[in-house]
Amino acid sequence: MGLLDGKIALVTGAARGLGADIAKAYIEEGAEVLLTDVMEKEGAATALALGNKAAFQKLDVTSEEDWIAAIAAVKEQFCGLDVLVNNAGIASGGPLEETTLEEWRQVTSVNMDGVFLGHKYAAPLIRERADKWEGGGSIINMSSVAGLIGLAGAHAYCASKGAVRLLTKSTALEYGRNGDKIRVNSIHPAFIDTDMAGQMIEGIRDNGMAANLEDARTLLTSMHPIGRLGVPRDIASAATFLASDESAFMTGSEMVVDGGMVAG
Ligand SMILES: NC(=O)c1ccc[n+]([C@@H]2O[C@H](COP(=O)([O-])OP(=O)(O)OC[C@H]3O[C@@H](n4cnc5c(N)ncnc54)[C@H](O)[C@@H]3O)[C@@H](O)[C@H]2O)c1
Repeated sequence: MGLLDGKIALVTGAARGLGADIAKAYIEEGAEVLLTDVMEKEGAATALALGNKAAFQKLDVTSEEDWIAAIAAVKEQFCGLDVLVNNAGIASGGPLEETTLEEWRQVTSVNMDGVFLGHKYAAPLIRERADKWEGGGSIINMSSVAGLIGLAGAHAYCASKGAVRLLTKSTALEYGRNGDKIRVNSIHPAFIDTDMAGQMIEGIRDNGMAANLEDARTLLTSMHPIGRLGVPRDIASAATFLASDESAFMTGSEMVVDGGMVAG
């Protein structure tokens, strides 16, 4: 018996990184998953490798049209939806005064508007089957430790991830008070070894905070009291728990998965 037997999930930003690992973990626990991403070729290959419980649909999370098409696709291919993982996100860095309004809007549009649109278009379909599960439907929003604490030079990223944290709590209250059986929780990873963390490591070197990539990785690792960077499975496990009925009494909460980074 899997933790997610019979459940249907849609994961955004699932072509690679955390989204791909979450999709894999969900399938291992018995779910069917619609993987979505802007990277069509990579997303289709990731879904293909996961077997017949996975499918892929192109979804730019900033596009209302794409959301409407993705929700129609999950309804047609899998007959419903129980779990939405708003995982797609992009990072940016640099001094605020050197950031253009366009760059600011690009980050906030993917990280924040994308989550708003996910709730808007997926919740009605999740609501239809929510009574089927002890824990109801589940929406999981990927925030970050950068949604809890400031990081110098990451203003748009921190602002958007902080917004995701409170959007999570607002929608959790709204659904709860309306009697909807839809739970909403956020996950707050520290640095996890994906392409995005690779960009951070390059940024540390390029900003002169470390002489080379190895020193930059050591510096980033030293920010985690547990003594290592996270791996995608650390986050996939948290996302599996939040999607399952094991977390039936959790809504509006922020799950920090950070190797102790923000504990001090
Ligand atoms: N890796 C980390 O250290 C870390 C830490 C904290 C939070 N996060 C968050 O976790 C999530 C996943 O990060 P990751 O490390 O896997 O990043 P990643 O860059 O490896 O993967 C992100 C995926 O999102 C997709 N994407 C980008 N823009 C999109 C859009 N407009 N619509 C749909 N898909 C889009 C990309 O194509 C890519 O497949 C992000 O929200 C990120 O902010 C990551």
